[in-house]
Amino acid sequence: MKSLHQFALSSLAFSLCSYIARGWSNDPTHGFIELPFNSSFYHIQKPYNLPVEQRYSFINGVHKLWVLSTDKPLSRNSPTKPRSEIIISGYNYSSGVWQFEAFGYVPCGTSGVCVMQVFGASPPHASTLMLRVYNGSLSYYREPVIIPNVYDEWFRLNVIHDVEASRVKVYINGILKYEAPGRGGTSHHFKCGVYAQDDDSYYMESRWKGIRVLKKCD
Ligand SMILES: *[C@@H]1O[C@H](CO)[C@@H](O)[C@H](O)[C@H]1NC(C)=O
Ligand SMILES: *[C@@H]1O[C@H](CO)[C@@H](O)[C@H](O)[C@H]1NC(C)=O
Ligand SMILES: *[C@@H]1O[C@H](CO)[C@@H](O)[C@H](O)[C@H]1NC(C)=O
Repeated sequence: MKSLHQFALSSLAFSLCSYIARGWSNDPTHGFIELPFNSSFYHIQKPYNLPVEQRYSFINGVHKLWVLSTDKPLSRNSPTKPRSEIIISGYNYSSGVWQFEAFGYVPCGTSGVCVMQVFGASPPHASTLMLRVYNGSLSYYREPVIIPNVYDEWFRLNVIHDVEASRVKVYINGILKYEAPGRGGTSHHFKCGVYAQDDDSYYMESRWKGIRVLKKCD
């Protein structure tokens, strides 16, 4: 027969375990494995006529990307608006369940800009997901608003793309905030930074740290 002491210990261990398990299952990264990530897995897309240092810095683990509405596009003949974006070109995927995690920061004043995308979709679309900032709100494309107040605060972002289920999920600070259908496409990758959209402010900036790419365990 167990002593009272042993009983108390085992019930403590049990509640600790269930507490940890609950914590894990609430975490969007639960059930995913982290893939290697360093500068070999991404590069920067920036105005074609400027050196990268004029629109990107990486200091103390923080990627800072900025662009002006009057800047050139990423290549001479591109009809697209200006951008300074991290493109995670080392992980192109066409199947499976993939996840992007990072801490993001958007300074007050930055508006009319895409700060994160799941690239790749069936034409006429180019992306499966765009997270944009308009007047301080973080939105799914132009709408709806996902969080109303995004300026001047670090937030944890987790984006999960289930290719076969054709589904994307957006978590802010660990909480599922938005779900949307996929938009087809045969090759996808993650991007973050600033990519000017409609009604863009003159100066656009976003910062990112702790970028991780994860894939669901089979
Ligand atoms: C990045 O990680 C890969 C895989 O772990 C490794 O082979 C490569 O040398 C690393 N590159 C840099 C620049 O650290
Ligand atoms: C990923 O796709 C892009 C084009 O979308 C291409 O430039 C890049 O080389 C591809 N990366 C790998 C590792 O295949
Ligand atoms: C953002 O604010 C400006 C100025 O108040 C306004 O003209 C514009 O319509 C707003 N944009 C959105 C998407 O709410």
